[in-house]
Amino acid sequence: MKFFLPCLLVSFGLHLATISADGNPLLYLGFSSTNLSMDGTATITPSGLLELTNGIVNRKGHAFYPDPLSFRKSHNGKVQSFSVSFVFGIRSSYLSMTQHGLAFVVAPSKNFSDALANQYLGLTNTVKNGNPKNHFFAVELDTALSIEFKDIDANHVGININDLNSIESSSAGYYDDKSDSFQNLSLNSGDAMQVWVDYGGEAKQINVTIAPLEKEKPVRPLISKTHDLSMVLQEPAYIGFSSSTGAVNSRHYVLGWSFSMNRSAPKIDTTKLPKLPPKGQKPQSKLLDIILPIGTATSIIVMGAIIILLLRRRLRYAELKEDWETEFGPHRFSYKDLYHATEGFQNKNILGAGGFGKVYKGILPSSKLNVAVKRVSHESRQGMKEFIAEVVSIGRIRHRNLVQLLGYCRRKGELLLVYDYMSNGSLDNYLYCEENNPTLNWAQRFWVIKGIASGLLYLHEKWEKVVIHRDIKASNVLLDSEMNGRLGDFGLARLYDHGTDLQTTHVVGTMGYLAPELVSTGKASPLTDVFAFGTFLLEVTCGKRPVSNDTDYNQEVLVDWVLEHWRKGSLTETVDTRLRGYYNVDEACLVLKLGLLCSHPFTNVRPNMHKVMQYLDCDLPLPELTHAEMSFSMLTLMQGEGFDPYTLSSSIGTGSGISGGR
Ligand SMILES: Nc1ncnc2c1ncn2[C@@H]1O[C@H](COP(=O)(O)OP(=O)(O)OP(=O)(O)O)[C@@H](O)[C@H]1O
Ligand SMILES: *[C@@H]1O[C@H](CO)[C@@H](O)[C@H](O)[C@H]1NC(C)=O
Ligand SMILES: *[C@@H]1O[C@H](CO)[C@@H](O)[C@H](O)[C@H]1NC(C)=O
Ligand SMILES: *[C@@H]1O[C@H](CO)[C@@H](O)[C@H](O)[C@H]1NC(C)=O
Ligand SMILES: *[C@@H]1O[C@H](CO)[C@@H](O)[C@H](O)[C@H]1NC(C)=O
Ligand SMILES: *[C@@H]1O[C@H](CO)[C@@H](O)[C@H](O)[C@H]1NC(C)=O
Repeated sequence: MKFFLPCLLVSFGLHLATISADGNPLLYLGFSSTNLSMDGTATITPSGLLELTNGIVNRKGHAFYPDPLSFRKSHNGKVQSFSVSFVFGIRSSYLSMTQHGLAFVVAPSKNFSDALANQYLGLTNTVKNGNPKNHFFAVELDTALSIEFKDIDANHVGININDLNSIESSSAGYYDDKSDSFQNLSLNSGDAMQVWVDYGGEAKQINVTIAPLEKEKPVRPLISKTHDLSMVLQEPAYIGFSSSTGAVNSRHYVLGWSFSMNRSAPKIDTTKLPKLPPKGQKPQSKLLDIILPIGTATSIIVMGAIIILLLRRRLRYAELKEDWETEFGPHRFSYKDLYHATEGFQNKNILGAGGFGKVYKGILPSSKLNVAVKRVSHESRQGMKEFIAEVVSIGRIRHRNLVQLLGYCRRKGELLLVYDYMSNGSLDNYLYCEENNPTLNWAQRFWVIKGIASGLLYLHEKWEKVVIHRDIKASNVLLDSEMNGRLGDFGLARLYDHGTDLQTTHVVGTMGYLAPELVSTGKASPLTDVFAFGTFLLEVTCGKRPVSNDTDYNQEVLVDWVLEHWRKGSLTETVDTRLRGYYNVDEACLVLKLGLLCSHPFTNVRPNMHKVMQYLDCDLPLPELTHAEMSFSMLTLMQGEGFDPYTLSSSIGTGSGISGGR
């Protein structure tokens, strides 16, 4: 018989072996330079391992001895005895989990192209499974439990005839020679193991034995099954291995293989076998296969998160900064600092809200200085440069009756102004509080009035240029920790002046504080400030708002009301009842009369702030108001459209020219 050809085994400890009809054996110690017929995922690794599957899921791989063998001496004879031995190893990326397994197979063909992977082990498919025409005999080393093939567990050895439903199977293990006790083996432990398949032609008995690599072949086989392979195998037949993976990343290796007809397969010298990849390397591949993807995913997520955070941070703290602002550098605050100072502009830090925006209390991170941050929304960029220049120049103004402007910050559509924090809040809170709440006594009120007058005088006359406040009112008068009145918000109204179209002059200020000529011409002057200051004087003394609606929704103008009492000679009746009569009558009357004088519709009647200071300090006697001068009704003036102070002035016949400021 010429089936068993010499097999060239050259390097890597491979031994020359011959198989003949008389039992010339086949022996592979590693598979380098061998001529196996392989398909699918099967390959020979550089180290000489036969790698049936390479870790890719749902794949199959086959490796066959290239030449057909004859299992019978004569054509119609019985299948003679044969013996197989092989060393295998199963590796996986997952601890103690692999799919599906490998099988030694004797089959009429090497063509398994129509077989399926997964639980079919690359041996059959759904249609062909169990078909007697398959003519295959296989010993499966199965690491998955396939219910459809009545597998006993996920770690078993089975004898398969034409069918994946094993005719006999057993959990992987061996019987110890000495004790005859069963020793479990884990097929996918990653360790190399040896399998022996012996067929006794006479007894028609198939023995399957498995043992750890370091063990001699156990005497008692794991499985011993009587089955006549003469009814199964065809002539000729091929011997080889089939293997498949399922959903789990697995690698099936064969390290060595021997085969012999009519005698025991040559003993495999396990010391000469190629080594399975070191387990340290496999865990590394586990690392690569599990931890690396997870790590990569994690780092991508982390990096994404960082990028998003940075972007959000950039957006959150984004500012508008232009070249011309560099000169104002020292007055510029970073938005980040202001953001942290106000704890992210939280509502709980809101001090109040005005016509320009909300005001937040904050503590500057660097200096721990208490500040009030005013958020002013603005749309127009026009005039912004001039305004900032003014803000910065105003920032240089220091007066004990002015709220110190510390600096600014600019964002898209938003301007932030940073002021000294005034711990006692704004004056209006004390004037228009609930009946029971603490108010200011007369001395305090008079002190505040003098302070504000001094502050306004400074703005109008003492500072290097004339600064018009434009929005004097009780809510813009703040009280510091010593209850000094301080004028806040000065110059801010300019923002709106700059921002608006010059053609349609928009008047900034608050109803009741607006001088008539400011309404008609839109031009602010120190005397328009004096007008507002006059209203403020009346407000503080009377504890009434400059314009209030009575119960019948009739507008009541404070100036008119005080004027009315002045004419009737009952000026003291206008003094705030919350003072309960405890006040200096002379001072109160002085303030009320001064208030009327300052709030006069005619600019020429109004005193300038220098004079106001002198009146308040009693350095100069207040001029007696004449009834002719005081014959006006602010309400009528306010309601009259296109009011012209000159017309009115001449019609009444008083005043000569406008007493300008500076
Ligand atoms: N520097 C500050 N220190 C303490 N509280 C302040 C300070 N500035 C403003 N506030 C508080 O914030 C409130 C709102 O101030 P804001 O000046 O914006 O409003 P307003 O004066 O009522 O109106 P407008 O914006 O029209 O002048 C004030 O009433 C005051 O209570
Ligand atoms: C390998 O086997 C094939 C047939 O399967 C044969 O054609 C080829 O010549 C063989 N090569 C060697 C080097 O033996
Ligand atoms: C393997 O068998 C299939 C049919 O099952 C056939 O189509 C294919 O050509 C065969 N391959 C070889 C290499 O003979
Ligand atoms: C062997 O495995 C079986 C089930 O797989 C288990 O019940 C038994 O305890 C194991 N025996 C040993 C000695 O590990
Ligand atoms: C199979 O094993 C039994 C012992 O269980 C033994 O008697 C028999 O000779 C073995 N057959 C072969 C072919 O090795
Ligand atoms: C098998 O080998 C034995 C000797 O070991 C021999 O007597 C017998 O004839 C052989 N059988 C066949 C079928 O070659």
